[in-house]
Amino acid sequence: MSGFGKIGVIGAMDSETAQLIAHLEGSRKETFSGLDLYIGTMHGKEVTVVKCGIGKVNAARTAQLLIDRFEPDAIVNSGIAGGTDPELSVGDTVVASGLLQHDFDLTAIGCVRGAMAGGDRTLPTIYPADERLVEALFTAAVRVSEGKRGGDTGSSCIPDDTTIARGIIATGDIFVADSATRHFIWDTFSASATEMEGGAIAQVCSLSGIPFAVLRVLSDTADGDASESFDAFEQKTADRSAAIIEEFISLL
Ligand code: ADE
Repeated sequence: MSGFGKIGVIGAMDSETAQLIAHLEGSRKETFSGLDLYIGTMHGKEVTVVKCGIGKVNAARTAQLLIDRFEPDAIVNSGIAGGTDPELSVGDTVVASGLLQHDFDLTAIGCVRGAMAGGDRTLPTIYPADERLVEALFTAAVRVSEGKRGGDTGSSCIPDDTTIARGIIATGDIFVADSATRHFIWDTFSASATEMEGGAIAQVCSLSGIPFAVLRVLSDTADGDASESFDAFEQKTADRSAAIIEEFISLL
């Protein structure tokens, strides 16, 4: 795929970035404003991987720094999420078709929940992901689940029957771990999953005109069992996301 020679990859936590950093070839580290950027190559592309920390502010400032310092052709956000679509389970994959911020609340001044100032007050603001990147991520996810990828990440090579979905991802500064909030996100936004960074990265990239995409593998279903499920499945699901990102980069 032409036009994507330089890719920025953001993950929030070590569990989401370590595998990708380890698989960079010829990498070097550059540190700006306390953020470590690992710059190297992967499948012949110039790739920078950075851990942003949890939450929208961390994600936004990292995306902007990556844009300013690295000038990527695209930014992808890799990691884990809580499933909010009742049809989805732990281990399933969501490729974001678009992102919104479920905790953005101007309802007191006449906007629906999630609607940003300056836009349509009657609809939540959705930042659409780049369609070519979405399709490449989807293809990569299918290939990883079918065990077709050529890498060396063990369990990700075993064929499986998990679901791979395209859907809206709802971002907020909340680790959702109760059924009421989970249902609110599904009922209000028809969002497939919830997490804490993607919507901020989407907003920053949209403001700068940088194509972006967000990939999440579900570590939990954002309900009363979410904390235990997160503890049990964080690394396995983060590894799955990283394996998909590597396959995705090979397709670009
Ligand atoms: N990341 C993984 N699980 C999550 C959840 N339940 N809520 C928010 N972010 C998450």
